[in-house]
Amino acid sequence: MAVKVGFVGCGGMNRAHMSRIKAMSGATIVAVCDVAKDRVSAAAEEFGALAFSDHRKMIEDVEMDAMFVALPPFAHTDQEILAARKGIHLFVEKPVAVDLKTAKKIEGEILKAGVIATAGFQDRYQDIVAKLKKMLAKTPAGLIMGYWIGGMPGVMWWRRKEQSGGQAMEQTIHTFDMARYLFGEVKTVHATFSKGLMKHIPKYTVEDASCVNLQFKSGLCGTIFSGCFLQGYGKVGLDIWCPDTLYEYAGRSRLTIRKAGAEPETLNVGNDFGGEIVRTFINAVKSGNGSKLKSTYSDAVKSLAVVAAANESMATGAAVKVK
Ligand SMILES: NC(=O)c1ccc[n+]([C@@H]2O[C@H](COP(=O)([O-])OP(=O)(O)OC[C@H]3O[C@@H](n4cnc5c(N)ncnc54)[C@H](O)[C@@H]3O)[C@@H](O)[C@H]2O)c1
Repeated sequence: MAVKVGFVGCGGMNRAHMSRIKAMSGATIVAVCDVAKDRVSAAAEEFGALAFSDHRKMIEDVEMDAMFVALPPFAHTDQEILAARKGIHLFVEKPVAVDLKTAKKIEGEILKAGVIATAGFQDRYQDIVAKLKKMLAKTPAGLIMGYWIGGMPGVMWWRRKEQSGGQAMEQTIHTFDMARYLFGEVKTVHATFSKGLMKHIPKYTVEDASCVNLQFKSGLCGTIFSGCFLQGYGKVGLDIWCPDTLYEYAGRSRLTIRKAGAEPETLNVGNDFGGEIVRTFINAVKSGNGSKLKSTYSDAVKSLAVVAAANESMATGAAVKVK
């Protein structure tokens, strides 16, 4: 029996997931939902699904095994809760909410319902990340420096801090999550920021840039930089400084390994990690076994806690303990 899948949000990310489901055997798109009528009717037509403008009606009326939720962070309200209560398994895009309180409430309902719930941290599925994780198990890191520095995305909600949570939460959370995936939990953060450089962009309230100092429970320290003020260039990745090796992970493209006195070695990403995360989720739903998922909803809440602490630090100027 094909896994029956519904979608809440018919924007850029869920459209990519819809195409992946369509190309997959063993799963079928039964319903799609968006508050924007043109988007939902286009998706419904393209994928032969029922169209809804209200997720409550879709969850009530349609028999679904799984639901993908890809919304602007502020728009997560009761979508996941209502689905979990009906036993529908969940794929939720990162960041899973715009604040920790909402995410914790949703997490509680997911755990109570016992449904499989994953978050869209697709970078964890890259083959170079699996190799990097193995290499790091053999050598201690002394310092890390992460980056997501680029331009301002086109969607309007992204530039409003109260809607997106700001760049560290909305975008650079991939880098924070990668740091947690590789090095474990963060104990405290201290963040600084700059603002007001983008005179050509009206009414934006997110920071232009931020620097978040991290103290890990293991004792490791590092900084993760965000910037959305660049025009036409950028840098995404994580530099990991070990006593004898510098690992330069360039997000979604390659890993360069530099050792003293040796030629650098470069490993390129060789797998379709975006497809892999979706296939792993659908297989988990089919088998009822979520153990191969690399990011559970609960784990994604921990990454949200780090960036929420960074936001609190930006607001207060003080170092903040990660909750
Ligand atoms: N994992 C990744 O690499 C990755 C990449 C891109 C985006 N994302 C995440 O996916 C999420 C969505 O991003 P996007 O690029 O698709 O944004 P988008 O703006 O393209 O799409 C969001 C859609 O949600 C709809 N929407 C808003 N409120 C709604 C509601 N209450 N009910 C139904 N629909 C509603 C909007 O009309 C819009 O069509 C974000 O959290 C983003 O961070 C993840």
